[in-house]
Amino acid sequence: MRVLVSGSQMREIDRYTMEEIGIPSMVLMERAAMAVVSQVEQRCTRTDRIWAVCGTGNNGADGIAVGRMLHLKGYRVSILLCGDTKRGTAEYHQQLAIAKALTVPVIEYHDFIPGSCDVIVDGIFGVGLGREIEGEYREAMEMLESRHAREVIAIDIPSGFHSDTGQIMGIGLKATATVTFGYEKLGSVLYPGKAYCGDVVVADIGFPEVSYETCGGIRYFTYEAEDVKRRPVRPADANKGTFGKVLIVAGSRNMSGAAYLSALAAYRMGAGLVKILTVGENRQILQTQLPEAILETYDMEDGEISESQIAKACDWATVIVLGPGIGREPYVEQLVKNVLVQAYVPIIIDADGLNAIAAHPELTQYYTENIIITPHVGEMSRLTGQSIESIKAAPVDTALRYSGLHGITCVLKDAVSVVTGKEGQVYLNTSGSSAMAKAGAGDVLTGAIAGLLAQGEENWEAAILGVYLHGVAGDRCLDRLGAHGLLAGDITNELGVI
Ligand code: APR
Repeated sequence: MRVLVSGSQMREIDRYTMEEIGIPSMVLMERAAMAVVSQVEQRCTRTDRIWAVCGTGNNGADGIAVGRMLHLKGYRVSILLCGDTKRGTAEYHQQLAIAKALTVPVIEYHDFIPGSCDVIVDGIFGVGLGREIEGEYREAMEMLESRHAREVIAIDIPSGFHSDTGQIMGIGLKATATVTFGYEKLGSVLYPGKAYCGDVVVADIGFPEVSYETCGGIRYFTYEAEDVKRRPVRPADANKGTFGKVLIVAGSRNMSGAAYLSALAAYRMGAGLVKILTVGENRQILQTQLPEAILETYDMEDGEISESQIAKACDWATVIVLGPGIGREPYVEQLVKNVLVQAYVPIIIDADGLNAIAAHPELTQYYTENIIITPHVGEMSRLTGQSIESIKAAPVDTALRYSGLHGITCVLKDAVSVVTGKEGQVYLNTSGSSAMAKAGAGDVLTGAIAGLLAQGEENWEAAILGVYLHGVAGDRCLDRLGAHGLLAGDITNELGVI
């Protein structure tokens, strides 16, 4: 597990460490600068022309310290100051005075005649960036972009990105490496920020654990390679009943694949028994494709599905998937409502199940803490009435608001999926890639989460581990199938061998 912080949490950790613990800002800054210098030394030579470009905040102060250290080590470095130097922080002025005392070349942007450079150390803005970048800063950043430096090493977070959301604040500098201090910031995990960070190095610069714990502790986190071991163990004396009964309510006329993929993923994840409840038209194809699953088809009465059939199916299950490919026929609202009302087990709602709820918002009254929804941003837009742009600009806030309002678990799917829980927990997923952006991948996810729930995982852990393993499965197919050729079914099969 890797912890992440928002910009505001990081600023609070910084303040607490300095003001309450008493570690001087200049001490933290010296260690921060040393960590950046170490990256420069690994990536550059003494013949490279280096610009340490500095704003007037403490990110700029870090940059001045980096420039000074590189100068003392014999690198060809100039410190380039952007913005109104009179507005600089106390540390900025202290660092500037030290650099000048040591005769490090320092030049202000308005006096600067740009030549070419090989390496940029980006200390313009860090976690303090609070508004769109304009004026001299913007001009300077455009000039820096036009240099096409071989290496751009960002201090803490590339300049121009919001540290909470990863959104570009007018203009963003693309780094080849980012040295971040203490903890990785949300803005370097979420797109587009993530795509601008290059290699991310997390440097320990001496923030004590107590600062982190006092300033909110683990609010945001992601899983990493070793977390695949969290997969449930299978006791030697188990039988199929030990690993749960998954009911997949999925599929419609012309849409059998969603049911197949979800059911297969539940089995591949380790579920003991899977039953598909679907339309009569799907019987033959599904029984042929997946004979390991039980198949039940809807008993229709006057255009509606028999309520007693739904009730019986819900009673049978230890976990339910509701929605993949169920379509938008008139009976779907009644089906969704009946499952929500009659089931007392975890329900993963996806796709047309969510569309039915978006079209009939009164159905949310049947939400319980056993609900896990898995919308992509389009479905989230329909559920919340928010625009897709506003959801993409603030996925963590959007998911948190929805899960908090309804007391459910929300898996907001995107390139970096965000999972939020009813108690305000936030997981950001860092596995997977755009190779998985294919029809059916979401159906696989529902089955993966269901398979974990069936084996006894709690709702929250099943949701985040399901999302993580689903991405890992996609990553592991890449060598064999490439970024273009991967199909949802490949992810499903890979789930079994992680
Ligand atoms: N345009 C101009 N000035 C801005 C803008 C903007 N769009 N946004 C913020 N500022 C100003 C702020 O008012 C502040 O003075 O720039 C400064 C923010 O710069 P930072 O250096 O990012 O913030 P600060 O809190 O001073 O330092 C945090 O210091 O601990 C180090 O590198 C670490 O990222 C961290 C940084």
